[in-house]
Amino acid sequence: QLSRRTLLKSAAVAGAYGAGVAVLPRLSQAFAAPSPLDIEARIIDATLDGQAATHKVMSYGLAGAPSADPSPPVLRLKRGKPFAARLTNSLDEPTTIHWHGLRIPNAQDGVPFVTQPYVYPGDHFDYAFTPPDAGTFWYHPHCNTLTQMGRGLTGVLVVEDDSDPVFDGEVALNLRDFRLGSDSQFIAQFKPRDAAKTGTFGTVRTANWQPEPIYDVPAGGLVRLRVLASDVTRIYNLTLEGAEAMIIAIDGHPVPERTLLDMAVLAPGQRLDLALRVPDSEGALVSLQDIRPSTPKVVTQFRAVGATLKRNLGDLGALAENAGVEVDLKNATEVPLLLSATAENAAKDSICGTLGYSFWAINKVPYPGDTADPTAPIAELKLGQSYILNVENVTPHAHPIHLHGMNFKAVSSNKHDVTAQVSDTYLVLPDEKVQLALVADNPGDWVFHCHVIEHQKTGMTGYFRVT
Ligand code: C2O
Ligand code: CU
Repeated sequence: QLSRRTLLKSAAVAGAYGAGVAVLPRLSQAFAAPSPLDIEARIIDATLDGQAATHKVMSYGLAGAPSADPSPPVLRLKRGKPFAARLTNSLDEPTTIHWHGLRIPNAQDGVPFVTQPYVYPGDHFDYAFTPPDAGTFWYHPHCNTLTQMGRGLTGVLVVEDDSDPVFDGEVALNLRDFRLGSDSQFIAQFKPRDAAKTGTFGTVRTANWQPEPIYDVPAGGLVRLRVLASDVTRIYNLTLEGAEAMIIAIDGHPVPERTLLDMAVLAPGQRLDLALRVPDSEGALVSLQDIRPSTPKVVTQFRAVGATLKRNLGDLGALAENAGVEVDLKNATEVPLLLSATAENAAKDSICGTLGYSFWAINKVPYPGDTADPTAPIAELKLGQSYILNVENVTPHAHPIHLHGMNFKAVSSNKHDVTAQVSDTYLVLPDEKVQLALVADNPGDWVFHCHVIEHQKTGMTGYFRVT
């Protein structure tokens, strides 16, 4: 049996992706799956910046369904219903799919060396699970992530529940940038000096791979906006001009208390569900903007069409409830998690593909560590026990920290009031100390990392082992 350490070593020896790890046995699938969705990771020609030139975009497509739309399809699953997907790799490098925010068995989590072997070019991998929570989630690779996500492999995943309120319309918005040069082709995904700071920004902003798209929505209607920040770097400060919207869910989970949208911060990996009340008059435009840059940028627009439906935001029913995070705070064990920069600048392997630098660390260890066991877990958690992750950010940059496989809720922060929001990704501000409480209710090795992908890939990664 190969240990993870052996895997890393053989990967290092055999080059960035490693040969020989294919000898790992295929992980068994837990149940008889329904007919699987055929998802192909592939390279297509697409235009992202409104110019004539095409770029080699990486995308997901449903096999047998060539699509004019370069952005990955929105996957729609049903809560509590078995889902199965076969990932076929038509890229020229190994890949996997991680189902961000879904609390599913560890073997389905899509992290090479941690939960499954590589899916090599030409090979396939079968995923099967039953989503336990309804809401807005997403899917992306966990392999050579800066390149693969940066070039387009990020898709929205919706888990529906039959008891959810019915809207007059729905728009999924996958927000992200691409790094294109003046010749309209992809340029280097990062600059080391930016990776050591906020991360490297893209050059072309898009929503669903289009610059400032306009969507027609029913006048006077209530429209559900499922907003995903799938960018590898950018943090959005979202506001709405021309209409009111109510925040109904964050990171897939219904908010404890609904509020009208004023400004919402959305960091890489996070989701925001809004109920938009479309204006009554036909042709009226509503714009979703990012006000974080000094000049606000339009992200996307909505145009009212038809005779007004005269809906009321106040009439909107509650979303289907998801499981809460029932932490036993009195008996919870505290786990210190220091987010810091590291002086160590050496080239290192990361989980599947390296950027060649170490800039960041969790508990002073840039992953993988220089320790006796370089891939040891950050902490071992006991199945069923309550924990408080004491996350402290001593860097001058914000880190959207993400936990696989389990949800948490913030119970205190020195920077702002916390709510009982259930989540999988928390934006830790500079100098913030936040307590994230969770029940270790899902056995396995669960990755914990910053979702600014350059930070993830240059050390700010680790995992918890739940047994
Ligand atoms: Cu969006 Cu490790 O994941
Ligand atoms: Cu970070």
